[in-house]
Amino acid sequence: MLQAEDVFRPGAFPEYTYISRKSAVSDLSYEFRLNQAIKVAGFLTSLVGPSKMGKTILCEKVIGFEKIVEISGADFSDDTDFWKLVAVKAGLSYEGQFTSEKQLMESSDKYTKKETFSLTKDKIIEYYKKENLVLVIDDFHYAPKEKRMQIAQQLKDAIRRGFKAIVVSLPHRADEAIRQNADLSGRLSLINMDSWKVEDLKEIAKKGFSKLNIKIADEIAEQIAVESLSSPQLMQYICLNICSILEMNENKEKSVGQEILKTAYHYTTANFEYGDVVLLMKKGPSTRGKSRNTFQLKNGQLCDLYELIVKSIAENPPIMQLTFEDVKERIYSLISDESKKPTPQAIKESLTKLQELLHIREDIFKVLDWKDDILYILDPLFLFYLRWGGSLK
Ligand SMILES: Nc1ncnc2c1ncn2[C@@H]1O[C@H](COP(=O)(O)OP(=O)(O)O)[C@@H](O)[C@H]1O
Ligand SMILES: [Mg+2]
Repeated sequence: MLQAEDVFRPGAFPEYTYISRKSAVSDLSYEFRLNQAIKVAGFLTSLVGPSKMGKTILCEKVIGFEKIVEISGADFSDDTDFWKLVAVKAGLSYEGQFTSEKQLMESSDKYTKKETFSLTKDKIIEYYKKENLVLVIDDFHYAPKEKRMQIAQQLKDAIRRGFKAIVVSLPHRADEAIRQNADLSGRLSLINMDSWKVEDLKEIAKKGFSKLNIKIADEIAEQIAVESLSSPQLMQYICLNICSILEMNENKEKSVGQEILKTAYHYTTANFEYGDVVLLMKKGPSTRGKSRNTFQLKNGQLCDLYELIVKSIAENPPIMQLTFEDVKERIYSLISDESKKPTPQAIKESLTKLQELLHIREDIFKVLDWKDDILYILDPLFLFYLRWGGSLK
């Protein structure tokens, strides 16, 4: 019998809940496009998309575990030998020793001769071609900047000779070594992966629960999909946690009811570590001892503007891109009618400061972007945590 953890797999290849999506530009499925792209000899494929949208899973699906050779950008340091790594990951030994024994005619002495060898780039390319292997350089943005250029250079030469490779990276980061490299222009297949739509996310729940013989109504699947904020990973996580709750309840009637959703969302946030990010945001930049203006909320709380911004982001409905008007309206509707309100100017200044504060910190803090009067939430898991983390409401 299938177990929930075999069906819903937030961290690995989802064999039973794999969903094929159409790409917005062409109405063709991503699988079809990637498959076409790697078939074309002499071209390098560049796959770009936001974090956790299924880039790695797509490569694994299309190429298959037998033929895929995965290298992470993080495997490279400044002095990594590119071809050595490419050989080792395919199971080839790059350097070694031959031992040959020769018997000399005249005497009965045997002598052994040791020769060292190292595989040449040509041999490695030949091996990949013979075995139909496809190299995937995943999370290319993790490779050191200098190294990225060198890798692009090596790939350019290799693909000309029929070597097959895909470079996977985040948008706007690091892909200039590939997409803006004049040497590679005209030799690139570009695939941009969009974030997930509610319709596609819903399918994960429907497919998975049906495999497990658990009933789920269409509108419940839809609600979970909306909370998943365009992230298939979050969808997989929440569905898995729903299964755990159903198991604990030992329900005879196996179905996903409205009443367990909040608990499932809440359990799901236990896996995420955004406590420090939220604290830093609520605290805002240092005031050098001065105290901040506070505002009286409808629920009786007193909050300063930074706390208000955090609260406004978490409000319903969950949205990853808020216009300035949205943010302002949300803030104003939180504040009690008698209290004075922050000016639009003050809200904008705080958003700018918040952005500065977060962007000088480690990657996990880079959860939002305030640009051209739009507040972009960059990390769906963060927004989910804001909405459902902390104590159960
Ligand atoms: N096509 C898909 N169908 C169902 N779930 C998926 C699909 N693609 C990704 N997922 C889910 O999202 C998770 C993250 O996908 P991944 O490929 O690692 O993202 P990325 O490489 O873009 O960061 C997967 O472990 C899986 O749970
Ligand atoms: Mg990945």
